[in-house]
Amino acid sequence: MTTPTIELKPSSTPLSAAERDAILVSPGFGRHFTDHMVTIKWTEGRGWHDAELVPYAPLSMDPANMTLHYAQTIFEGLKAYKQPDGTVATFRPQANAERFQSSARRMAMPELPTELFIAACDALIKQDRAWVPDSGEASLYLRPFMFATEVGLGVRPANEFLFIVIASPAGAYFPGGVKPVSVWLSEEYVRAAKGGTGAAKTGGNYAASLVAQAQAAEHGCDQVVWLDAVEHRWIEEMGGMNLYFVYGDRIVTPELTGSLLPGITRDSLLTIARDLGYTAEEGRITTEDWKRDNENGTLTEVFACGTAAVITPVGSVKSERANWTQGNGEPGEVTMKLRKALLDLQTGHNADTHGWMHQL
Ligand code: PLP
Ligand code: COI
Repeated sequence: MTTPTIELKPSSTPLSAAERDAILVSPGFGRHFTDHMVTIKWTEGRGWHDAELVPYAPLSMDPANMTLHYAQTIFEGLKAYKQPDGTVATFRPQANAERFQSSARRMAMPELPTELFIAACDALIKQDRAWVPDSGEASLYLRPFMFATEVGLGVRPANEFLFIVIASPAGAYFPGGVKPVSVWLSEEYVRAAKGGTGAAKTGGNYAASLVAQAQAAEHGCDQVVWLDAVEHRWIEEMGGMNLYFVYGDRIVTPELTGSLLPGITRDSLLTIARDLGYTAEEGRITTEDWKRDNENGTLTEVFACGTAAVITPVGSVKSERANWTQGNGEPGEVTMKLRKALLDLQTGHNADTHGWMHQL
């Protein structure tokens, strides 16, 4: 099977520069989309074909499309940043391509080759380059995704899929700047169990999380923290972010048990923290450890990390049985130092010593 090249079908009705600039002043997160998208089809026996860069537009769908019924769908999230010399670069697109392949394997879907994943993102960014915000931590968020397009109600892996990349200018995921979030420890609902789909970036994981997120909001919390499915006490991750626990100059993130998402920000921070002289480890932490170590002062900071949310401090914790302020409730020094190091690297203000930036 040959790798298709991406054919351009430009939009005849892009937004005007003035309309686009008005959006870029305050893009929010995931509310506005650029003028184009890349689509690539996959058909059993034929492989990947018909790669096109087309105007961003609604899709028409048969009511018996298998995704609508059985949710064979996966996605990714990565960002493109304007560099000081005016060029644009994405952060670790290869890692996203590889996670997309691993999600595809778990969901019985075809694997998109890494080169095609990166070429699709690059083609879209180049075409809609004017949508890459200018400065600070603003970025162009890319959302590659794939879903079954076969029509039918039989429960089995589909024989046709569509891969799409869309792009959306992104400001802060949590509006209001770096403000610590309050978290709800979910003891009733579980996100994922060993052997399930927790390590895959698949829509169903997010659908299943929403009722717990609503429960967190009912308790006045911003985000839900997921615990393990068996003992309901081992910390796993948050709704769209991984977690880090800071013990002075040692940072610890929950180990990958198979039921949490292997975050690319999480992985990058293990390295960045070591570069900055911290000890960075994967480990296991219970809700009791969290409460006790916060009380005795050894657990100095907790933060969440992810592509959309960058690094966000955790300021308070609540569950059915407990309620505490994390540290003094303010963003911690290590959290903010790591946040700056990560953003400086992504925006080209720190040397890319690990070869993570992909220049377009
Ligand atoms: N955990 C979940 C459930 C997520 O959806 C995300 C976001 O992609 C993350 C963690 C963080 O992953 P990454 O750093 O690759 O964005
Ligand atoms: C991301 O950080 O890219 C995510 O996918 C998190 C969320 C928007 C689902």
